[in-house]
Amino acid sequence: MIKKLYNVAVVGATGAVGQEMVKTLEQRNFPVNNLIPLASARSAGAEVEFAGDKWTVEELTPTSFANVDIALFSAGAARSKDYAPAAVESGAVVVDNSSAFRMDPEVPLVVPEVNAHAIALHKGIIANPNCSTIQMVVALKPLHDAARIKRIVVSTYQSVSGAGSQAIHELGDQTRALLNFQDYAPKKFPWQIAFNCIPHIDSFTESGYTKEELKMIHETRKIMEDDSIQVSPTTVRVPVFYGHGEAVNVEFEEPMSPEAARELLRAAPGVEVVDDPASNQYPMAITAAGKDAVYVGRIRKDESVEHGLNLWIVSDNIRKGAALNAVQIAEKLIEE
Ligand code: A2P
Repeated sequence: MIKKLYNVAVVGATGAVGQEMVKTLEQRNFPVNNLIPLASARSAGAEVEFAGDKWTVEELTPTSFANVDIALFSAGAARSKDYAPAAVESGAVVVDNSSAFRMDPEVPLVVPEVNAHAIALHKGIIANPNCSTIQMVVALKPLHDAARIKRIVVSTYQSVSGAGSQAIHELGDQTRALLNFQDYAPKKFPWQIAFNCIPHIDSFTESGYTKEELKMIHETRKIMEDDSIQVSPTTVRVPVFYGHGEAVNVEFEEPMSPEAARELLRAAPGVEVVDDPASNQYPMAITAAGKDAVYVGRIRKDESVEHGLNLWIVSDNIRKGAALNAVQIAEKLIEE
């Protein structure tokens, strides 16, 4: 797809990820001719600022995609299932941030630092992975290439922005209410999120794992192109606005020292190592919020297995975990 300028639709342009997509397109000087912000009928007529202009939000309909070259979807899996085929039919390439098509064997699931080559295989839709999976594979791919990962045990500390803009407001409003000795019933989360951690993201499956946990297992294998990698996840929502943390235990086939891992990660695209415990240097949600990198620290040997490491990985779930990764895919697409 080689043109000078592209007509880019952002589906869900009023949402937490959609707004960040518009911002990221501008920050990275994506060659946009027309921006087409789409959302529900509730938002039709609202305005989105982009590149010094105001662009009017239109209601998403099957005919929204005439003359659209690239459609970035971030309005949930139901909208992706209903409207992405119409977008492809109209000639657009869809980069979909939802879970709708991620495990479809016909759809590439892409993190550009890891498997950019898969973009070329698309048949109209390219899937953007789950936020927790993206940051984990960006950090683990260079280690996997060097020493082959056998098994990953991961516990996540996921911010509320991953559940959308209503969830962001819920944490703020609920915190304020509780500090004023007022009640605030949970709406977006199954339990109170202020001053609490909830070991439940997305719905439970019969296996006892949540769908979020299953995404981390299956998407990691698909992106790393290695079905032998074992992943054992626990995903937890924490009262943080932006930035997911992950405590990751990795068992390797071959030796991998903390020093070697630090060196590989320092050279890895999209990764920043922040690892100096002596001076309290380690990544935190506040390190990553608003930034592009995947931050890695607390790198240390796991003495309980032959070749093991523990790491702490943090990234902004709305940027690298969603909007930035989608825009990076679009950038690769137009390089094709
Ligand atoms: P709207 O703001 O009009 O409801 P978030 O993940 O932050 O909750 O954002 C969800 C995004 O998806 C918003 O832009 C929202 O638009 C959009 N959206 C939700 N439902 C629909 C729908 N039925 N049709 C089109 N867009 C939708």
